[in-house]
Amino acid sequence: MARICILGAGSWGTALAVLLVGNGHTVTLWSHREEEVLAMQRTSANESKLPGVVLPREIRYSSQLKEAVKNQDLLVFAVPSKATRETAKKIKDLIPEDQKIVSVSKGIEEGTLYSQTQILEDVLKGALTAALSGPSHAEEVVRRIPTLVVAASKSHDLALLTQELFMNANFRVYISPDLLGVEIGGSLKNVIALAAGMSDGLGYGDNTKAALITRGIKEITRLAVAMGAKEDTLAGLSGIGDLIVTCQSMHSRNRMAGYYIGQGDSAQEAMDKVKMVVEGVYSARAARALGQRYGVDLPIIEQVNRVLFEQMDVRKAVLELMGREKKAELDHCSW
Ligand SMILES: NC(=O)c1ccc[n+]([C@@H]2O[C@H](COP(=O)([O-])OP(=O)(O)OC[C@H]3O[C@@H](n4cnc5c(N)ncnc54)[C@H](O)[C@@H]3O)[C@@H](O)[C@H]2O)c1
Repeated sequence: MARICILGAGSWGTALAVLLVGNGHTVTLWSHREEEVLAMQRTSANESKLPGVVLPREIRYSSQLKEAVKNQDLLVFAVPSKATRETAKKIKDLIPEDQKIVSVSKGIEEGTLYSQTQILEDVLKGALTAALSGPSHAEEVVRRIPTLVVAASKSHDLALLTQELFMNANFRVYISPDLLGVEIGGSLKNVIALAAGMSDGLGYGDNTKAALITRGIKEITRLAVAMGAKEDTLAGLSGIGDLIVTCQSMHSRNRMAGYYIGQGDSAQEAMDKVKMVVEGVYSARAARALGQRYGVDLPIIEQVNRVLFEQMDVRKAVLELMGREKKAELDHCSW
């Protein structure tokens, strides 16, 4: 059994603490807010993040980073993606150089255009990193609803270790060497989910949603492959799998934010209503920049950016997408 520290006590970090304690590991759940730690200790619940869930007594809680990350076999990074770099900097001098770390956060950093494990490797030189991703809403995982994810790492040993530590009868973990593909899939689906939400908000139907998912994964795949990822990864759990769940689910905050925008709210008003970090908004800008860097056409992602940041009317964005020049469905098509 392993000693594991989870950094970030949001819905996903807390759900994974429940899962890992259930797998027999010694788990410390760290939050940057002391009052959050005290509340979880007092109530055995994280009521604002996972309402109605009783947290097992075995979970240890801490708001002291130094004590939390000491002597851990594995760290799990579960802070919102925009807090990954600052959290990594805080632990830099507190952990061994070859610390094993699994990132479960999703997002591309604006400016550097780094994935989550690229940020970790940038700050924590020598750390061994993996990403765990796939269609896995915390609200369902914590209720032991059968869920399948993928653990990706450049290190076969770390991928196997991650699989070993996380997998159980309700949580099936595949492994993959395609770390980049898994992280790009997990991050960019949030941008397409915003578009899917806008479609719902406009009152469009299943046809539109299916089209966004199908053409959305095409865009994500095109970009990921240009960056060096494997096409198959995007047809897998952290590609189409995660995209389907995020575009359909009532739990998805990205879809929800898109919905409010489709109903007429500005991006800021939509984020204020969702009350949680809407990572797709940040990843949208980063995805557009990646498209420009790699010379890849990303029409849906482009329109999401225009709606979010250039005050384009969402109906006009749809009209423009529908009115693009006539095309073949396949990128490389011949008769
Ligand atoms: N919720 C899910 O079902 C789910 C599933 C898979 C992956 N993820 C990913 O996991 C990550 C965390 O998502 P979540 O749903 O748990 O978020 P959340 O909104 O439920 O909670 C975020 C937590 O991070 C903490 N936090 C905020 N700013 C911080 C900072 N600067 N430093 C440290 N901690 C900070 C907050 O206190 C809060 O407890 C995201 O990248 C998300 O995409 C979430």
